Amino acid sequence: VELFHTGIKRGSPEKIALITGATDGIGKAIAKTLADHGYRIILAARNAVKAEAVIAEITASNPATRLEPIVADLSSLPQVDRLTRAVLERYDRLDVLINNAGVVMPNRQVTTDGFETTFQVNYLSPFILTNSLLPLLRASGAGRIINLSSSVYSLGKFNPALVRDAGRYSAITTYATTKLYLLLFTKSLAERIGAKITANAMHPGIVRTNMSMNTEGFPAIFKIISALALPFAITPEKAAETALLLAASDSVRGISGEYFTNGKMVPTKTKFDTPGNRQLLWDLTMQTWQESRQVLPAN
Ligand SMILES: NC(=O)c1ccc[n+]([C@@H]2O[C@H](COP(=O)([O-])OP(=O)(O)OC[C@H]3O[C@@H](n4cnc5c(N)ncnc54)[C@H](OP(=O)(O)O)[C@@H]3O)[C@@H](O)[C@H]2O)c1
Repeated sequence: VELFHTGIKRGSPEKIALITGATDGIGKAIAKTLADHGYRIILAARNAVKAEAVIAEITASNPATRLEPIVADLSSLPQVDRLTRAVLERYDRLDVLINNAGVVMPNRQVTTDGFETTFQVNYLSPFILTNSLLPLLRASGAGRIINLSSSVYSLGKFNPALVRDAGRYSAITTYATTKLYLLLFTKSLAERIGAKITANAMHPGIVRTNMSMNTEGFPAIFKIISALALPFAITPEKAAETALLLAASDSVRGISGEYFTNGKMVPTKTKFDTPGNRQLLWDLTMQTWQESRQVLPAN
């Protein structure tokens, strides 16, 4: 039986998907929909208790689903390293990687690795995780990478001098810049990984989740924007439909380096998206990763 617009057939070999931030909001809805479509799911979560609760919820409606939690906080590079090593040890392939986990921080906070938190969680860690898992995505034969960017990428500012730190802190600009970086990274990745793996970015819409509703501690302008947008917000389940399309549909087979929203491929517009900037961002991020590796603890 052909399932709704995915082209997945019941009885076809089990597909494996890794989702970051699957303990809440859009990531949780993506995990549920992929479970409904027969995927085996690795939940990369910072909160083991929440991960177990999501697993119990999915298993209640889909008893056959295979789900495994791996605990990792993306604001810690040693934990990202442990996550990638666990996945590389336990799995021989990965069909879908969804970089969904994200934060918007009311104030500038520096992680134990020395980076601004939004930058590390939303961009640096997905960059490292994705590059580390490329061998498994290659082994799938048709690995798909999906990065949860946001339409606010258009407010992001690329400044090579500030790649690691957004300078004078503004919650909106910093968040937007990480989403711009994720978009530029997606395009760079698509240019580098060859035809067998695809990488695409998506904007899920304005979605009713903790992130959009919990504005405690944020500046007034942030609260006003959120309050104005929320009446038009969609459910996480609706937002997960674009992720399902990118993860599973035959209609996007071979499409890479693109940006999707509301189930459709749409052009992106930012003066910062130039081949030179994409290369520079890639090189600076690789350099940051290499430098951080030299100070990582051995285990
Ligand atoms: N909501 C929107 O309107 C909207 C719009 C555009 C783009 N997006 C993007 O969509 C993605 C999902 O957002 P959402 O609205 O679903 O947010 P959410 O409800 O706040 O969920 C965020 C998820 O990320 C996880 N997470 C946060 N920090 C983490 C860390 N340091 N390490 C590991 N996991 C971490 C959270 O874990 P816990 O469960 O432990 O908190 C949670 O599972 C984000 O990338 C966001 O930027 C959202």
